[in-house]
Amino acid sequence: MHKKHCTITIDGPAGAGKGVVSSLLARRLGFTRLDTGAMYRAVSLHALKQGFELSGNIAKKHLEDRLQLLLAGIEIEMDEKRVRLNGEEVSQAIRRPEVGMAASFISQFAYVRQKLTELQRKIAQSTDLVAEGRDMGTVVFPDAQCKFFLTAKPEIRARRRWLQLREQGIEKTLEEVLKEIQERDRADSSREIAPLKMAPDAILVDSSYMGVEEVVNTMYEHARQRMANFSTLS
Ligand code: DC
Repeated sequence: MHKKHCTITIDGPAGAGKGVVSSLLARRLGFTRLDTGAMYRAVSLHALKQGFELSGNIAKKHLEDRLQLLLAGIEIEMDEKRVRLNGEEVSQAIRRPEVGMAASFISQFAYVRQKLTELQRKIAQSTDLVAEGRDMGTVVFPDAQCKFFLTAKPEIRARRRWLQLREQGIEKTLEEVLKEIQERDRADSSREIAPLKMAPDAILVDSSYMGVEEVVNTMYEHARQRMANFSTLS
């Protein structure tokens, strides 16, 4: 018999802590974590390697046609630790800031979103999932059992991202990182298709002045409660 798996969604802007929080929450619940930003990043890394220009006012229709062809030849494999693109490990390469900006750019295209949405839904059919991204609760999994919107003040998100980049040996000033975060917030929230916004039934968690443990504990309690309600209703 087909078992219905449980899906928990975490959406929010860049640098809100979705990565670490979704990993810890998934581990605690015994669920699989799905980092959908990594999928957009992998596609954009591939496009950049093929010489695509992914910014500014380029001819968008032409680019979308080229992206469509590119996607037909892409295979993305992901597990908790690694991302592979057509067999090549790209886990580190996709974290570069320019790949994040390019991912934000290609994520405006309907065809790209449609392909990745299909892949994300397929994964959710076979496992209990903590899925993190921008449109998890609003578009990809509108019927998720529990939805979160994780955010923090832009200055705090920029500082966290800056520290992460420094750990990876990427030298940028805090001002540069803040500018990039604000630019990505603007692009992700204002695009026409599946913009970043909070689902009406999502729980808002502002992590500005919360530690990771506290955020995960809060989410864990909410998730258990929602899942208990869900199992008595279904
Ligand atoms: O979460 P991240 O920084 O790795 O995401 C990179 C970009 O990918 C982000 O700026 C917008 C896009 N994205 C998206 O449009 N929808 C998602 N579900 C996840 C990411």
